[in-house]
Amino acid sequence: MPNTEYYNDKVVRQFLLAAAVWGIVGMSVGVLAAAQLAWPMFNFDTSWLTFSHIRPDHTFGVIFAFGGSALMGTCYYVVQRTGHTRLAYPRLAAFTFWGWQVACLAAMVTMPLGLTQSKEYAEPEWWVDIIIAVVWVSLGVVFFGTLARRRIRHIYVANWYYGAWIIAVGLLHIVNNLVIPVSLSKSYPIYSGVVDAMVQWWYGHNAVAFFLTAGFLGMMYYFVPRQAQQPLWSYRFSIVNFWALISVYMWAGAHHLMYTALPDWVQSVGMAFSLVLLMPSWGSAANGLMTFNGSWPKLRTDPAAKFMVMALVFYAGSTFEGSMMAVKTVNSLSHYTDWTIAHVHNGALGWVAMITIGSLYAMAPRALGQEKMYSHKAMEWHFWLHVFGVVLYVGSMWVAGVTEGLMWRATLPDGSLTYPFIDSLLAIKPMYWTRWFAGVVILAGMVLMAWNLWHTAADARARLIKPIPVPIPEPDPHQVPEPLPVTN
Ligand code: HEM
Ligand code: HEM
Repeated sequence: MPNTEYYNDKVVRQFLLAAAVWGIVGMSVGVLAAAQLAWPMFNFDTSWLTFSHIRPDHTFGVIFAFGGSALMGTCYYVVQRTGHTRLAYPRLAAFTFWGWQVACLAAMVTMPLGLTQSKEYAEPEWWVDIIIAVVWVSLGVVFFGTLARRRIRHIYVANWYYGAWIIAVGLLHIVNNLVIPVSLSKSYPIYSGVVDAMVQWWYGHNAVAFFLTAGFLGMMYYFVPRQAQQPLWSYRFSIVNFWALISVYMWAGAHHLMYTALPDWVQSVGMAFSLVLLMPSWGSAANGLMTFNGSWPKLRTDPAAKFMVMALVFYAGSTFEGSMMAVKTVNSLSHYTDWTIAHVHNGALGWVAMITIGSLYAMAPRALGQEKMYSHKAMEWHFWLHVFGVVLYVGSMWVAGVTEGLMWRATLPDGSLTYPFIDSLLAIKPMYWTRWFAGVVILAGMVLMAWNLWHTAADARARLIKPIPVPIPEPDPHQVPEPLPVTN
């Protein structure tokens, strides 16, 4: 009997659109923040537009609204395809879309108004946190419910990473946001002092680990073999890296609190685990890159593949940099300087944004029932604008960071500081101008992507009114999903 079941791609398309919109919003706020650091007049003398109020809007906008929408959309796409099954609980899946948008909107509106818990990456107040928690549990129910009804025995590795992302972020979010509310606009954390700092950076660091790393590795492990049209270089290695990554990351958070009131031995544990972390990080980067063996000529013609390869190179680069910055002597130079900002965007714009953009370009035509994206040229342009922008951003912040670090630690023979603080600010001014320009270039690429997606969707509407639903193939119970064969 022919199979009449179709994948549920409606919610995937909605998340795709949301990711493009939030990407532009979050990065526009980043560009504004960069302008404010270079030219203070862009604070406009208005409290809700000052740097301190909009900075969390940038971080929340890019990490949770942009990254979160991209992760949710792709995880729904991937779990269906790799399980040869339709999404479980379609109404709940629709709720996760609308619920997530409401949570993001609430956070993005309240933070500039000054409603904040003052915890980095966990700024929204308690009632926004509750909405986030409800959506998150629903996401888990849909994802694991779909896994449970899969028609392929094997659980493909991408789902392990997505699963770890969902479980760990849920846990982190709830534990770090335990507060006593006193009004709609104010709450007090249940932790205090150094314990509060430790819980916060256990959360902050593992948000990097499980939101910005594990989730996007899930994306990588599905879309890289697909785009390369090759089996994963080593399936076994991907599983080893999975267990290594999730067991090591949890212990490394103390590297955010070097030379603080945290016990010295805890800082050393954080440093040691950060060094070990390089192995599973490079393991996944190498596995992804080697998967392109035999398909390297694709890089001449396929912008999505180019984004993915570049993302893996930046993943390797930023994790190497992170492990080095976790060495206490290096951290004594880099901490509090723009070197940290360089590292963040090495990972965020180089790895996270590029793997997302590559995957969206790979997924969008399929989810929209089209053969390809509307404009190949626009994708090429986007690639070069993005790479140029990221290199400029990271390069300028490296120079600024090392300059600051060296100027702050320079002393005269009598022990007094060589430079007043203001001198270091004046020295890095040109770097701040450069970073702003880099941001504008990156943002221009994102607008081009949104334009391209819009036209691809418009083509789908013009041709068909509705995108062609993709039928679910009959699975061979002994085989792993067809587009992702394993070699060893
Ligand atoms: C157009 C692109 C972007 C621009 C212009 C930009 C700009 C900025 C600026 C000016 C800051 C504040 C730096 C400071 O406090 O000294 C910042 C911080 C940050 N940005 Fe971006 N950003 C961009 C894209 C992204 C993306 C895509 C992500 C994540 C996926 C991201 C994640 C972050 C994070 C996590 C921080 C806080 C870093 C820290 O506290 O150490 N940014 N960004
Ligand atoms: C082996 C992997 C990694 C290690 C060992 C590592 C280590 C570090 C270290 C030592 C810092 C500086 C802490 C400080 O001085 O304040 C840092 C900051 C940061 N890293 Fe990484 N990193 C890694 C990978 C990544 C990746 C892939 C991303 C992003 C996708 C990332 C995002 C961040 C962010 C957002 C911060 C700034 C946190 C803050 O102060 O607000 N890291 N990381």
